[in-house]
Amino acid sequence: MPPYMKLGSVPPKRHIKHPRPKAESHLGEGIYYEHVVTTEGFNRAYSIMYHLRPPTRVSKMDHVGQVPLQAADPVELRHHHIVTGGMPRKGDSVTGRVPMMFNEDLAAYRCRPAEAQQTIFRNGAADEVVYIHEGGGVLETHFGKVRYKPMDYVVIPRTTNYRFVPDDVSKEDYLVIESFGSVRLPDRYHNPDGQLMLGMPYYERDFHGPSELIMIDDPSETDVVIKDHDRLTRVTMCNHPFDVVGWDGFVYPYTFNAMDFEPLTGTVHLPPPVQQTFEARGYVICTFAPRYLDHHPEAVKVPYVHSNVEADEVLFYSRGNFASRRGVTHGSMTLHPGGIPHGPHPGTIMASMDHERTEELAVMFDTDRKLHITPEALGMDDPQYPFSWLDG
Ligand SMILES: [Fe+2]
Repeated sequence: MPPYMKLGSVPPKRHIKHPRPKAESHLGEGIYYEHVVTTEGFNRAYSIMYHLRPPTRVSKMDHVGQVPLQAADPVELRHHHIVTGGMPRKGDSVTGRVPMMFNEDLAAYRCRPAEAQQTIFRNGAADEVVYIHEGGGVLETHFGKVRYKPMDYVVIPRTTNYRFVPDDVSKEDYLVIESFGSVRLPDRYHNPDGQLMLGMPYYERDFHGPSELIMIDDPSETDVVIKDHDRLTRVTMCNHPFDVVGWDGFVYPYTFNAMDFEPLTGTVHLPPPVQQTFEARGYVICTFAPRYLDHHPEAVKVPYVHSNVEADEVLFYSRGNFASRRGVTHGSMTLHPGGIPHGPHPGTIMASMDHERTEELAVMFDTDRKLHITPEALGMDDPQYPFSWLDG
């Protein structure tokens, strides 16, 4: 989890009265309503927030749809290159998500929204990691405002009420991972005192939580669309959900910029997990950041052929040129499933021998369990990609 954070007004101890002064609200004298947001029952990270009105007041619930993930299976075992950079824009930052692949632990989407998000959204069953391939703006949440920019990972804990407010929606372009287990920083990056250790690829200052509260004192009914797995429910809340006067804890939406990841380079290629950025149940997220290349005089500077027999590997190509791949473009995704080898394309080993740096920036997720590719992804798949290692 990111480091402890406090924003706004909280009482001196947890679970005691937080008096609401009469002068501050037309509601008059009273208390702010405590709301504890926990993970893994009550056993792991949590935050404590204080609302103007109880967050439990709802006047209506409507079932508004099912969004089941569909596999294109049966698909033969092969490599995939899914060309998503020019995917047509549609929907908003939530409704415009197009499923690419999924398993029991995650669902990955590409999203190129066409319009700004109007309705507040809450994912009730999954944390979300939204990688900002292009775009920028403010994520409005009941924790406050989170400014985001290109190459940010925006991590949104489940049950966060939110709305993306882009600066220019026509530039927005995301990779979205819906994570059914909690998204965390790797345990091994922390010392026994809970601090990120020296020498790890990032530091507490690299994580950016909400910068200011959004305190809306509005008793009007407000709709929130909640997704829990396949089900969409529109809940009419009796007041605006962004009514938090203060909170503290370890659970909150935050950004981490991929360019703040400190890459490690050896005399020869260093494989994952040195690129690991996040961990969750059943998979990891890694960042291949711009870096100096391996410096042994005989080093092969692109990754060797490997058989990732117990993992499916997905790369999303965001910036720079990709030394080991031919034909991939910005916004491409490749899926190299377990059980068959993959590696550098013909000609790329010798072509890289004189290179000293790579400016490539790619996001990878490696899954323990088999990924199912969706019909939407298969529609953007290059069927010749499995044969792209032939000519050399
Ligand atoms: Fe690989």
